[in-house]
Amino acid sequence: MRKSKVMVLAGCLGSFILVIFYFQSSLSPAAEERILGNIWHGKSRRTPLQALYDSEQFEQSTVQMTHQRRRDLLDSVCKMYTRKRRVLTPDDLKHLIVDDTHGLLYCYVPKVACTNWKRVMMVLTGQGKYRDPLQIPAHEAHIPANLRTLSEFSTPEINYRLRNYLKFVFVREPFERLVSAYRNKFTRQYNTAFHKRYGTKIIKRHRRNPTLKALENGDDVKFEEFLYYLVDPRTQHEEPFNEHWERVHSLCHPCIIHYDVIGKYETLAEDANYVLQLIGAKGTVEFPSSSKTTITTDDMAAKFFENVNVFYQKRLFNLYKMDFLLFNYSVPSYLHKH
Ligand SMILES: *[C@@H]1O[C@H](CO)[C@@H](O)[C@H](O)[C@H]1NC(C)=O
Repeated sequence: MRKSKVMVLAGCLGSFILVIFYFQSSLSPAAEERILGNIWHGKSRRTPLQALYDSEQFEQSTVQMTHQRRRDLLDSVCKMYTRKRRVLTPDDLKHLIVDDTHGLLYCYVPKVACTNWKRVMMVLTGQGKYRDPLQIPAHEAHIPANLRTLSEFSTPEINYRLRNYLKFVFVREPFERLVSAYRNKFTRQYNTAFHKRYGTKIIKRHRRNPTLKALENGDDVKFEEFLYYLVDPRTQHEEPFNEHWERVHSLCHPCIIHYDVIGKYETLAEDANYVLQLIGAKGTVEFPSSSKTTITTDDMAAKFFENVNVFYQKRLFNLYKMDFLLFNYSVPSYLHKH
């Protein structure tokens, strides 16, 4: 009964309202709560959001302070750089994965441990179907039907979740993420889909006298050619960046959506642990430990940027500037300073 009422209501609203006013829904928060309050399964205990802001448990802990500082910094950068608050559309919410069991929203960013986070989200939402994240094959974690995203919900359902769920995102030093994306998508023979879709175009536009074979296969894109493609105004004019090199700022909208936890790839294990602790899942599911975390990729990014022309280094930095500022990454020392 109740569900059908919600559906009808959602349908009516959907036909009139095309944009979502976050914190400014057509329904009053109280009305939304009344309609949607029954979706919260874990009612009897504190929600993760309450756990986070309930100072008793975490007061004075350094972890809590670190995260508070990250949120404050992000807030102040947002205030400084965004003049007008724009409204969200369902399209903006495609990267937010929903866990209704724990009251959790995760904005996934490719090249920042997102396969493992998707696996963990599948365990969390799977109602006992999986126990160990690593038993889920990587490709299965990326099948859209296996996880729900916030864009699939109605406006009141979206607003309810944005207001009441714990929202988190994981970020990484922007150029390290970029180098990781380049290496993964353009230097591995098996990624033919990316070679065909992007490689051929990049070579056609940004290589002088390309061979016919390179034009056809697009499988030997050089790092510099990839950068030319990124800073070329035509690229973003034609279509949005692919998610693997799109900025976190554009994927997750951190100046509009207030993230409660900003995790970092550089401190992945601790930050993942913190999220699982907040949702009370620490004995139930463990975040897969990665052997990679011990290797610093900083030197690698430096190597890749070594021969890049200063002009392009600057333009590239400007392109990724908001991600550097919002998440407190300093200008890489290997960039030529002028
Ligand atoms: C920003 O990063 C620097 C080190 O790079 C650190 O000392 C500082 O505490 C960080 N600030 C915030 C707000 O996290």
